[in-house]
Amino acid sequence: MAAVTARVDPQVLAACGAWAPYVEAKLGFRNHWYPTLFSIEIEEGGFVAFPILGDRLLLTRLEGRVHALRDRCAHRGVAFSRKPECYAQGTITCWYHGFTYRIATGELCDILTDPGSRQIGRLKLPVFPAQEAQGLVFVFMGDVTPPPLADDVPPGFLDENLAVRGVRQTVNANWRVGCENGFDSTHVFIHKQSVLVTGNDLALPLGFRPTGTQAFRVVDDPTGPKGVYDLLGEHSEPIFDGRIDGRSVLQGHPGATRCAYDISIWLPGVLRVYPWPDPSLTQFEWYVPLDAERHYYVQTLGRTVQSAADVDAFNAEFETKWRALALAGFNDDDIWAREAQQEFYRHDEAWVKERLFEPDANIVQWRRLASRANRGIQRSEHLM
Ligand code: FES
Ligand SMILES: [Fe+2]
Repeated sequence: MAAVTARVDPQVLAACGAWAPYVEAKLGFRNHWYPTLFSIEIEEGGFVAFPILGDRLLLTRLEGRVHALRDRCAHRGVAFSRKPECYAQGTITCWYHGFTYRIATGELCDILTDPGSRQIGRLKLPVFPAQEAQGLVFVFMGDVTPPPLADDVPPGFLDENLAVRGVRQTVNANWRVGCENGFDSTHVFIHKQSVLVTGNDLALPLGFRPTGTQAFRVVDDPTGPKGVYDLLGEHSEPIFDGRIDGRSVLQGHPGATRCAYDISIWLPGVLRVYPWPDPSLTQFEWYVPLDAERHYYVQTLGRTVQSAADVDAFNAEFETKWRALALAGFNDDDIWAREAQQEFYRHDEAWVKERLFEPDANIVQWRRLASRANRGIQRSEHLM
């Protein structure tokens, strides 16, 4: 349980103004859909533990459908996933004293060590709606009637003719450090030695200088996804010549492939980079809160396909090229940077000690939108 670490210093919150709710959401936003495992990672009858938003889930597949329930026995709090036991279809039995729950509803239906207990039929575990899309299992971490999944993913992700492949891993940084690394317009500086730059002949400047106007498109309609587009091309110019005291010291890479002219970030914490890492691909990547100090980095690439042969070609290209060159080769730089930045942002005071500069204006837009358009803040009491 993350009760102690979920709290944010009230003095820090008071100083954060319009983005205080975002700063408070150390464990993420409640009442949103989050990707968890890839569909192929949950087989029929299998049980997989998945900690998320400071809570713990147990994911299983029953007659083809994925179910998500809290991975913590109501009796004495142990995790079922330590030793999942199942003696009747559709139930999970706690390995400790035999409390047995229905997977679909969370209801305590029997106790193998005391069949007459008055607790039977009274206790219930929290269960969370689950839905599969594009090869991922999404779970709605909340208590209200879930909105459509389409409201919590970037535009285009659920397109029927989009083939999606991806990878996921744990990163030792808060989820917001992940979001802000992905959306940060001058962080391209860390990618200057990436294998993708030379391997894919990518045009990669050192950064982007604002030209005076700020151009963002904030999408905040009552229904549908909520996010911020950074119209980089309209309010900045790429910097290829790095200077100190007027003398050139470092050059960007003037490659032939121009990508990523449409970058946007969406609630509850997912980036869309179009096109990337190639003119035929879009990258969608999530920063799913695991706890206060870690997130799951779920990276996917999507390509519009017309036929089964197109899907096969994309799968082969993903395995032979993009997995190593882009998802690992390029984005490993980002993982390294986030884990380094977490050393600072693990302290609440970081949010008031940071000193943002002009190109960070897009990050400010994101913080403001996330603060006003989220459906709730994950708090310690949700974990009890
Ligand atoms: S802790 Fe689960 S049955 Fe006792
Ligand atoms: Fe990056």
